[in-house]
Parts: sequence; structure tokens; C-alpha cells
Amino acid sequence: MTTLSCPNCQRVFKIQTEYDKHIQETCKPIPGMKDVFNKLKLKKKEEEKRKQKIIQKIKKSHNFLTTIDQYLHNNGINRLNRFDLIKYIIHNLENDKNNLLYKKIDHSILSYVYDIIKDTIINKSEIIQRLFMFYGNSNTKKDLDQFYTPLTISQFIKKIVLPNKRYIDPAAGTGDLLIEIDGNITLWDISSEATELSKINYGLFNKKVTSVTKDSLLKFNCKNNYYHYSILNPPFGTKTTTDNPLILDNYVLTNSKKKQELGILFIERSIQLLRNNGVLFVIVPGGYLGNNQNLFLRNYIIENTKILGILKLPDGTFARSGTGVGTNLLILKKEKVVTKDYSIFISEVNDIGYELNKKHTPIKYKKNENDHFVFDEDNNLVIVNDFNHISKQLQQFSFDHSIKELQQNNSNITYESVNIKEIFQNKYLIMDIGRYLKKYKDTISQLQSISHQKIRNLCIFGVDYSFTPSKNKTYKYIDISEVNTPLYNGKTMIGTQLPGRAKNKVKKNDIILSRLRGNISFSIIMEDDIIVTNGMCVLRPKDMNSLLILFANLYQTNFNIQHQSLTTGSILECISDEDILDILIEDTIPIDNFQRIYDSMNSLHKELSAIVAYI
Ligand SMILES: C[S@@+](CC[C@H](N)C(=O)[O-])C[C@H]1O[C@@H](n2cnc3c(N)ncnc32)[C@H](O)[C@@H]1O
Repeated sequence: MTTLSCPNCQRVFKIQTEYDKHIQETCKPIPGMKDVFNKLKLKKKEEEKRKQKIIQKIKKSHNFLTTIDQYLHNNGINRLNRFDLIKYIIHNLENDKNNLLYKKIDHSILSYVYDIIKDTIINKSEIIQRLFMFYGNSNTKKDLDQFYTPLTISQFIKKIVLPNKRYIDPAAGTGDLLIEIDGNITLWDISSEATELSKINYGLFNKKVTSVTKDSLLKFNCKNNYYHYSILNPPFGTKTTTDNPLILDNYVLTNSKKKQELGILFIERSIQLLRNNGVLFVIVPGGYLGNNQNLFLRNYIIENTKILGILKLPDGTFARSGTGVGTNLLILKKEKVVTKDYSIFISEVNDIGYELNKKHTPIKYKKNENDHFVFDEDNNLVIVNDFNHISKQLQQFSFDHSIKELQQNNSNITYESVNIKEIFQNKYLIMDIGRYLKKYKDTISQLQSISHQKIRNLCIFGVDYSFTPSKNKTYKYIDISEVNTPLYNGKTMIGTQLPGRAKNKVKKNDIILSRLRGNISFSIIMEDDIIVTNGMCVLRPKDMNSLLILFANLYQTNFNIQHQSLTTGSILECISDEDILDILIEDTIPIDNFQRIYDSMNSLHKELSAIVAYI
């Protein structure tokens, strides 16, 4: 018996006990073998000890400011002085600890702070950003998380732009996007607090900056055709709009509307700020690249720029600054391209060096298959950051396509690209890169090499599923949460209780299928006159054979890849009904197997319905 509560430890304990028993009772050990085993055991123990030490160090590094802040507080140092004192230590980290001298503060206090900061395993830029996020708001009382920019993006941009040019961020916030770049830096922001904060921020990094409070959209004539690079993460979202005619009358991207999203106007504004051949790096929500209603924006981009790159950023990249939507980094060169035949660098970024789903996005360190941390040749922990490789790929692309405005390097590495002509093949000019990536294209080629067809060939068209509820009639309604692939539940409701999304009426053998990225749930409807949410796509198979082929394919990886690759949009990335119908499926499937599954589902459904009716 063991008192260990963790199943993993229990397992290890069991194996260890069995092994010891085996050695003592059954196996006569070869002389010297015991030593080997003991050494191995010791090595394992040491490895585990080292791992625990690193975990402690990571934890300490994550909380180093809280520890220091508390310590300084306990020593009677006020908040503003704490900030200055830590700033002083950071700027003197490379100097001899014994020479530290700060106001009349006792040397032992300085030494304590110095040791803690020196002992952290995060780099200096991260230390400074954290210091800024921790104390910067004492000046303005503003929540700084709203300005948070992952520094790995700034570091990536630094590796791509040419140094010592003119750079502007016209929606700068605290200016973190440009903080790593060397050159002539201008920051504009409508908020005077942001301007003040950006000055403090750049001061911490010992960087020169011209930071001005300005409404960048209203001042549409200011500094046009001047900058080599415009780099920004504009405010976006359908609620962040302006109806100010003094702004709208001066932009074409208002699209003749009385109100427009700031993020869209900022794209036009940033292009105005650039010299010819200047380059724009702009963070945009997925909806700008894929939503049908933003086609005018994509047309504008194609007409006024050469698209150099589209990088899909991982979900949660800007979650700390309040943007839960999927984002992309667009790289556009101000150039009117006559012949629309050129390559665009594309990349799906999975990791940017932070654990994006955790509070305060701690740094993400690489671990091996044994759950041990991985070190580089200098014995530093390896950070999981795709940008290291993507910057090299983009430099290679830049070399191969002679892009003078971006850094070039020929290291013969491969990358993915799409020709603009492929974007033109889609009537909505979709720029979401899923459908242009190799993973998707390989799936299509593989299906094209075997017997296949499109989903649309197996379905009946032009069916009107729409439905208007009668107030007091009773319905069985299925919402997304009630679809437990391949079965479904459903609630009985009267007309007035139905939610607004209860829009479709389906019948037996219809297939309902989720449109959402990352959630491929589906069901075969087993009875007539069921109401379903419009959050699900409805397919009406032509016949039983078509139903079974469709059903079988919904389980296939190939279907999954296509479904995920074709999703577009921001808040909830979705696949359109039209794209679902174009999905390729394999048509040689073991029909009999799926017929049996279908029959079983049918009987199960009947049995369950009978039980529910009885209850
Ligand atoms: C998403 S934040 C930018 C965050 C920034 N990249 C950072 O690292 O801190 C957008 C910024 O745009 C500013 N902004 C909004 N409308 C503006 C306008 N018309 N002119 C200038 N700045 C504006 C906001 O004050 C906010 O600081």
C-alpha cells in the first residue's frame, strides 16, 4: 500500500517496488549491474532535482516584481521610489554590485534587489516591460494591460525592417511595437496619458522617441508620404467606430457609410503616412481578411499596395489587451502594382513565446517528451517561439523576391507563399491564409488522387429551412451544445421560449454540422420537424447512399483539415455554407459499416425517446 495520491507517482512507485522485488528474488544480478542501476537511479534523481530547481526559478522570475515590491514596501520605501530604485538597478545590472549607490538607500537593500533581478531567467526587454506594466499605472492610474503587446512581435518586426529609418506608430499606446527598433521613432496617440506612458516606457529602455498626443485620423494631412515604415495595432472592433464627418469626408474607406470602424480607417491613414515603397505592418482582426462585407477593404489593399506577407497569429495573442478575436499581421508595401502576379509570404504562427491561455501570459519554455526542460548550447532554457524561424523564412522570401525594403538573407530555407492570382480566384478575395497553406493543399491533392467528389454533389439544393415559430405551439429544439456527435439531445419548448437563433426546421436524415473552427460536431436528425439553431449548417442528402458517404467522411481527418482551413472571421471563426459544399470527400467508403452504425443510432434514438416519453 502507498499513501501517494497522484496516479503518476503511484504508477512509478509500483514499477519501482516490482523491480526491487524482481532483483532480490528472481534475477541474480550480474556483478556490477547493481552499480549501473544505482547510478541510473541517481542520475534520474538529479534530473528531477534540476527540473524542480528550474520550476522554482521560473516561478520566481514570474513573480520577481511582487517579491521586490513587497520587500521594498516592508523597508518603508514608497511606491514611486520603488519604481525608480528598480529602474536604477536594471540599468546597472552589468555593473559591479558593490558599486551600487542610490540616494541614501542602504546597500543591503540594493544588493537584495540586484540579486533577485540578476537571478531571473527572462531577458532584459521582458524585465523592463514587466516593470513598466507593474508600476507605470501609478502615474496615470490606467490599467496598463490594455496596452500590452507581446514583445516577441516587436522583436520579430525588428528583424524584418531595415534599421535606422523613419518609423511611425499612429495608434501607439505605450509604443511597445516599435520599442526594439533602432532609428527615428515617432509615436502618435489620441490619449495624452498614453503619450506620457510611452515616454516613460522609452525612458526605461534608454531610447529616444518623439511621442505626440494627436488624433491621427483627424490630422489626415499631417506628415503624409514621409515614413519608411508604419507599424501599428489599431483599435478595432465593430463598436470602435467614428461618425465624425471631419474624419469620414477625408477617407475613401468609409465605403460611403455614415459610420466606419477606426481600424479600417487606420489602414488607409497608415498608407498615407508612408513614402512610396514604404512598408506597413498592421495587426488586423480575421474579419478584415475574410468577411464578405469587408471586400471593399481587400480591394483597396490590392489596388494601393503590394501584399508582402500575411501571418496568422495564434488565438489569444492580444487577449491581455482585451482583444479576444483572431488576429493577423499584414505586411503591405505602398506600391500600385500593375500586373497582379506576385508571391505573398504566408505563415501560420502557433507559438509566440508565451502561454497565451494563462493569466499574465508567462513565458513558454520548451520541454522534451519526458517533460524535461530543453536547453540550448549556452545552457539557456529554450523558449517556444515560432518567430525565430519565421523571421529567417521571411528574410529568405525577401531575398528570393528582391524586396529591398525588408531584410534579406539567403540561408536556403523553405517557406510558404501564395500567388495573388490565387486570391483573385475567390470572388470575395479571401485573404485568410488557411486555404492557401500547404496543409490544406496537400489534403486536396491527396483526395484528388483517389475517387472523390464535392459535398454539394450529394445534397439537395435550394431547400428553404427557414421557420417562424407559432407562439403557443410546442417544438423540439436543438442548440449547438446539445449536439453530441453523432447523437443529439434537444429541448421541448413552446414558441415564445425559443431563442432568436432557432431559425431552421429540419427533417429525418438531414445532417446538421457545426460551422465553428475547432469544433466539428455533427448529428444525423432522426425525426421530422425538429427546430435547430442557425449556428449549424444543414445538409439534406439526396438519398441514403449519399447520407452514408457524408456521414462516414465527417469522421475523416481530411474533412477536419478542410473544415478548419476554410474558416474565416474574427470573433468566432466560421466556415461559410458555400465553402462547406465545396469540401472534397472520399466516396469509396465501407457503406455497410456505416449502414450498421446508422441503424444502431436509429434504434438507440427510438429507445431513448420512448424512455424520455415514459419519464
Ligand atoms: C490597441 S491600442 C495600441 C496598443 C499599442 N500597440 C501598444 O503597444 O501599447 C490602440 C491605441 O490607439 C489609440 N487611438 C485610438 N483612436 C486614435 C486616434 N484617432 N488617433 C490616435 N490614436 C488613437 C488608443 O488611445 C490606443 O492607445
